[in-house]
Amino acid sequence: MVKRIAVLVSGGGTNLQSLIDHQDEFNGEIVLVVSSRKKAYGLERAKKAGIPAEWIKDQDVLLNRLQEEKIDLIVLAGYLTIISEEIIEVYKNKIINIHPSLIPSFCGPGYYGLHVHEEAYKRGVKVSGATVHFVSEVVDGGPIILQQAIDVSKCQSPEEMQTLILDNIEHKILPEAVRLFCLDKLKVENERVEIL
Ligand code: GRF
Repeated sequence: MVKRIAVLVSGGGTNLQSLIDHQDEFNGEIVLVVSSRKKAYGLERAKKAGIPAEWIKDQDVLLNRLQEEKIDLIVLAGYLTIISEEIIEVYKNKIINIHPSLIPSFCGPGYYGLHVHEEAYKRGVKVSGATVHFVSEVVDGGPIILQQAIDVSKCQSPEEMQTLILDNIEHKILPEAVRLFCLDKLKVENERVEIL
């Protein structure tokens, strides 16, 4: 069965765009885009693609909408609001998040968006990357699905690092993780993900 996907955003939505662009490749359909911020450009991207786009702040309202739409998979693509415990419980191992570092480095509370790259740049890391993981009650702590690393030693700023990782890694591994989920190829056992 084709999976019904909701994508949650708070910002520019380039990861949402990469999912829209790769939609043909997975056995799923993005049926809803939700933003926690009214002016997020991600909402415009959704509208341009003909996908219903809504601004929802309250987590109870969000849970209602997800259930009304019979959502099978929730993708957090630059969503800056902490998901309620209730939603995490109802959608256990059905919520995936993309984080712009190699977890467990530079992750957890306060590590979001450009801050992640600022800290990595300050520390002078030579390799960074991105991680797609299932969402649990621990921030950035759920089972890891995919990770990819890249040489960042030539980057001259956190912004450059961010662009390099978005373009070369995030926009590839997020659609790939969604594709695998839609094919029921992700098995979670003892907090580890096995790709079948
Ligand atoms: C990405 O770097 C993502 O990993 C992080 O927030 C950023 C969102 O970028 N969680 P965009 O809105 O998808 O362009």
